[in-house]
Amino acid sequence: MNSKVVLAYSGGLDTTVCLQWLKDRGFDVIAFCADVGQGEDLQAARRRALACGAVKAIVHDLRQEFVRDFVAPSLKAGAVYEGKYLLATALSRPLIAKHLAEVAKAEGATHVAHGCTGKGNDQVRFEVTLAALAPSIKVLAPVREWELKSREEEIAYAKRRKLPITVTTQGLYSLDQNLWGVAIECGPLEDPWTEPPEAAYRWTTSPMNSPKTAVYVTIGFARGVPVALNGTKRPLMAIIQQLNRLGSRFGVGRSDLVEDRLVGIKSREVYEAPAATILHAAHRELESLTLHREVLEFKELVAARYARLIYDGLWYTPLRSALDGFIGQTQAVVTGEVRVKLWGGHATPVGRKSPRALYRRTLATYGGEDTFDQKMAEGFIAIWGLPYKATRARP
Ligand code: ARG
Repeated sequence: MNSKVVLAYSGGLDTTVCLQWLKDRGFDVIAFCADVGQGEDLQAARRRALACGAVKAIVHDLRQEFVRDFVAPSLKAGAVYEGKYLLATALSRPLIAKHLAEVAKAEGATHVAHGCTGKGNDQVRFEVTLAALAPSIKVLAPVREWELKSREEEIAYAKRRKLPITVTTQGLYSLDQNLWGVAIECGPLEDPWTEPPEAAYRWTTSPMNSPKTAVYVTIGFARGVPVALNGTKRPLMAIIQQLNRLGSRFGVGRSDLVEDRLVGIKSREVYEAPAATILHAAHRELESLTLHREVLEFKELVAARYARLIYDGLWYTPLRSALDGFIGQTQAVVTGEVRVKLWGGHATPVGRKSPRALYRRTLATYGGEDTFDQKMAEGFIAIWGLPYKATRARP
């Protein structure tokens, strides 16, 4: 009997060639297609896998789990990598790996396989997750091993082996997308001095062509998680989908950066994440209204660390659980609404309110209802400034 391998299959060129490569090495291949909201036809991918000789092809809709268990914690954390990347791809990898392991177990497979290259982060995220969740499963990474050196060579191989691939012009760029955003690499983007061509963008209208009139959206949060849009209760997934559509029309959520990969390579990346951008801005705004200064300041450190652990493939680790404990506690009061203005590529919070607000108008106001005793400031400043008086008086 052949050994079974579960292959993370997208239906694209790389994973289709992987499928054939694994078959050639005597494996029975089970293709596993994960729906994380990439908006591609996964039933077509499933049929393609079977046409290529997979013994079985499975599609799982992981969108709910993705939103609930990965997107929501990362939003609560305020996780942004190197100031610009909202981690869409990075968040999906541990989820897909978890399901690869589950399918392998259910199907009695000894191996799992992925189509990641040896230069990227995704291989690390898949394999570290598998090590943490299913250490006895063996991992195969055909792209790291085979001799095919370029996309052209892969296409030639696929043609030789009569694999049913569709080669599209989108081939200029390497894409990865899900509900939380799209990552775009390669082609003209490999020159960090070159502005991304409009054709590189997948979702968003150019901010220069954004509608002339701004639109306002109101996002309701309960304990740090979005629960309503424009006053109507909606599931988070529906809120994300709606904000992706709306934000895209206004050119919101583009970013362009040189990022540090885990394997030590600097890489020029372009992202589009309209909903993620709007929700992060709104969430941060509500935190400003409801959290104490010390908590906000410390949470910034946690956010950066949390972003890095997501990026580095360390989702299923004790550090993440521990940081979730801290973050969860801070979010208990992050309930309320934020009004965000979308226009010309920007998502700008312009209003915020909360039943748990720390803002006190009677303290802040310069109007008649002021209750702040200005005389108290004198003593406060005398003590606050005391150490510096001594410095000046030093002999
Ligand atoms: N650089 C991003 C990351 O490491 C995106 C990777 C996208 N993957 C892809 N196959 N295009 O998360």
